[in-house]
Amino acid sequence: MTADSPARAGTAGLRIGAQEVALPIVESSEGDNAIDIAKLRAETGLITFDPGYGNTGACTSAITFLDGEEGILRYRGYPIEQLAEQSTFLEVAYLLIWGELPSHDELDRFVAEVTHHTLIREEMRHFFDSFPADAHPMAVLASGTVGMSTFYPDAHEIFEADAVETTINRLIAKLPTLAAWSYKKAVGQPYVYPRNDLGYAANLLHMMFAVPSETYEVNPQVAEALDLLLILHADHEQNASTSTVRMVGSTHANLYASISAGISALWGPLHGGANEAVITTLERIVADGGNVKKWVDKAKDPNDTFRLAGFGHRVYKNFDPRATIIKRAAERVLAATGADDELFDVAQRLEEVALRDEYFVSRKLYPNVDFYSGLIYQAIGFPKNMFTNSFAIGRLPGWIAQWKEMIEASETKIGRPRQVYVGPGTRDYTPIEQR
Ligand code: CMC
Repeated sequence: MTADSPARAGTAGLRIGAQEVALPIVESSEGDNAIDIAKLRAETGLITFDPGYGNTGACTSAITFLDGEEGILRYRGYPIEQLAEQSTFLEVAYLLIWGELPSHDELDRFVAEVTHHTLIREEMRHFFDSFPADAHPMAVLASGTVGMSTFYPDAHEIFEADAVETTINRLIAKLPTLAAWSYKKAVGQPYVYPRNDLGYAANLLHMMFAVPSETYEVNPQVAEALDLLLILHADHEQNASTSTVRMVGSTHANLYASISAGISALWGPLHGGANEAVITTLERIVADGGNVKKWVDKAKDPNDTFRLAGFGHRVYKNFDPRATIIKRAAERVLAATGADDELFDVAQRLEEVALRDEYFVSRKLYPNVDFYSGLIYQAIGFPKNMFTNSFAIGRLPGWIAQWKEMIEASETKIGRPRQVYVGPGTRDYTPIEQR
């Protein structure tokens, strides 16, 4: 069975009044099977209703497996724990996009290709200059990403394998440069060009923190921690930003446009922006005297819109395996950098109180990937508004893999949900003088 030709596992019966409908069941290789309702409207005049798509499978996919009840996450079958321990971000990127772990030669070629494309077009310097200094780096990153398509006419060749491969390599190579320059713009420092003798994460650190007037040495433990964060963020099946990439891509817009849309979707505090929101919350708790119970109570108050950022997940209802790995990494990074661990201490106390609280227990709200990742970013010197930029660099291979799978699948159609209309019935236009 391939992602493109899913097996059928019998049918499910649906009775609507006197009408009996047999709906095919799509069989997964692991996890939830699905009832195929594609012909439901044609046969019954009814559509399905699922706000937030919590129960809707929009595609078949062979990329990432996630079991939220058991806390399992695998990329192309490989457990996240093994990849986090033994792999590198670029190897994981290759795995996600091309489907298998690379051989030595394949990895060398891929790394060489990505390294070769790290420079962005010099004209783009003006692009950064034109934004205000306090522009949020996510806005700059999203704009820069779609802006890159203006330089590469082959971006539009979305069905040409060679052109697609070049676009993929360009995106992976250039996103860190765009991200770092959006930061340099914000702090008013000169843009730092990539150094192709450095590894992927080390180069990002170099472009962010080096200045022309001083020598900058990348701390290998910090580069390793950043590489780990990128691996943990690399894919997460059909989340909001990935679904956005697929949706935009389904219109046959180019890959830069699709990824830029994904970056915008990731920005929100309910999604990738949660890592920034976590640190803001921890800082507020510290400034407020460190009473974590008070803030847990605030999160529980139905009359208060405050939510505990970094807690809860649409799919994980037991624990988020990425959070477990990140918590251990945070301990290592704080020890290696000697960063202030007051926030880490508050985070741990907050977790402890929340995990014992009936409200959080009954709703199965656990720390997610964003709960501890912000602490690592902060310990390695990232300002808060750069956390989600880094998340986007990590998620990029996943977005690309999902876009590629979507564009190559014969089942793909333009994404176009239906609605249940609840507005007024037909009425006659009233001229403005009579209203
Ligand atoms: N703090 C307090 N209450 C919460 C929280 C929270 N963080 N998360 C969920 N709840 C409550 C929610 O109010 C609801 O309660 P009730 O049943 O009484 O109305 C119940 O738990 C179920 O929540 P939901 O909003 O229906 O769940 P969802 O699946 O629609 O939302 C979520 C998932 C991640 C958006 C949500 O848990 C949340 O807002 N968390 C905080 C933001 C966050 O950490 N986002 C990052 C997610 S992981 C990484 C990523 O996607 O980028």
